[in-house]
Amino acid sequence: MTPDRIVRTFVDYYRERGHLLVPDTSLIPPPGDPVLFTTSGMHPLTPYLLGRPHPLGRRLVNLQRCLRTTDLDEVGDPTHLTVFEMLGSWSLGDYDGSQSLRWGYDLLREGFGIDRDRLHATVFGGDDLVGPDTGSLRTWGELGVPVELTGEENWWSNGPTGPCGPDSEIFVWTGQTPPEGTPGTDDRWMEVWNHVGMRYHRHDDGRLEPLRQPNVDTGMGLERMEMVLRGGRSVFEGDGFEPWVRTVSGLWGQEGESLRRVCDHLRSAVVVVGDGVRPSNTGRGYVLRRLVRRVLTTLWRDDLSSSLSDLPPEPLLHTLDRFRQRVDVGDLRDLLCEEERRFRDLVQRGRPLVSRTRSRGPLTDQDYHYLHDTHGLPRELVDGLLGGAG
Ligand code: ALA
Repeated sequence: MTPDRIVRTFVDYYRERGHLLVPDTSLIPPPGDPVLFTTSGMHPLTPYLLGRPHPLGRRLVNLQRCLRTTDLDEVGDPTHLTVFEMLGSWSLGDYDGSQSLRWGYDLLREGFGIDRDRLHATVFGGDDLVGPDTGSLRTWGELGVPVELTGEENWWSNGPTGPCGPDSEIFVWTGQTPPEGTPGTDDRWMEVWNHVGMRYHRHDDGRLEPLRQPNVDTGMGLERMEMVLRGGRSVFEGDGFEPWVRTVSGLWGQEGESLRRVCDHLRSAVVVVGDGVRPSNTGRGYVLRRLVRRVLTTLWRDDLSSSLSDLPPEPLLHTLDRFRQRVDVGDLRDLLCEEERRFRDLVQRGRPLVSRTRSRGPLTDQDYHYLHDTHGLPRELVDGLLGGAG
């Protein structure tokens, strides 16, 4: 199944059950939002989850691009991405979590053809403040899907304050042998869909207030779903990455973890620029700068002459097209090359400084602070490229 087919299957399923399609938004949240980027499909819906009536009603569905930097260090493994697309469904004080799980199960089985024995769920087992999620536990029992109870891993929130609640995550077996173990014991169980019982509002003082309107918020990772349905071993085998993997391995001979990291970060950099961000030393611009610098750090470890100016337009155009972004591909390449030039200057200035400091012995925390604060050389650069850790 192609990503577009997956999206159609999902959206049509929910439309047939009275959900209206909410237009997607860019990665940039509205002014005043404390979070830098849209991190989940529910993010733009926060006021409605807290009780404001939504103009499209109480049943919603959509596809939303998201960016998560919390997973940055995991990017390079087969399943984590910085930018990804999330399919979501919502009940704003309408049906309950049990109904959501039943529809979810039905869509996975009938719509996407996934066998029941490849499914596993996790459910919130309770903590000091909130009891176990017995409703989800009962529903999975009735559906015959095995369940693992966990603690805080099954509590979802979009930040320290705001709407939150217990969730139930659905995992699909991705191994080449029959399923074994549980999501907690075997990482061949891959999470594809999260159903959150968004029933609480966490306030600044940490207080948890039950929402007058209990909601359901679900999110399915599109790239992961594509991997499951292809029987693939990595999200990087999907349509959105094919031109990147081909280009990056062909141009620079990258493979394995480095290949995945470079492909992810370049594709994300394109989407972030496409949504209007420009490199800088703070905020969103710094996230973009870090993505590009991590790419270059990876490439230059093997070959200092690698340059983004060798990138052909094809993967850039492919990504801009997928995310319906209207940016001139020549301007985009110029921006990436200018960022590379600045970074190359920094590296050239940094190398003698680091080697002088290193000649006095292994770098101390104070040295790292000095190199960062006075010369703008972050620790990951000092260690990764300038021989600081050597
Ligand atoms: N908001 C939930 C998540 O992103 C569905 O996992």
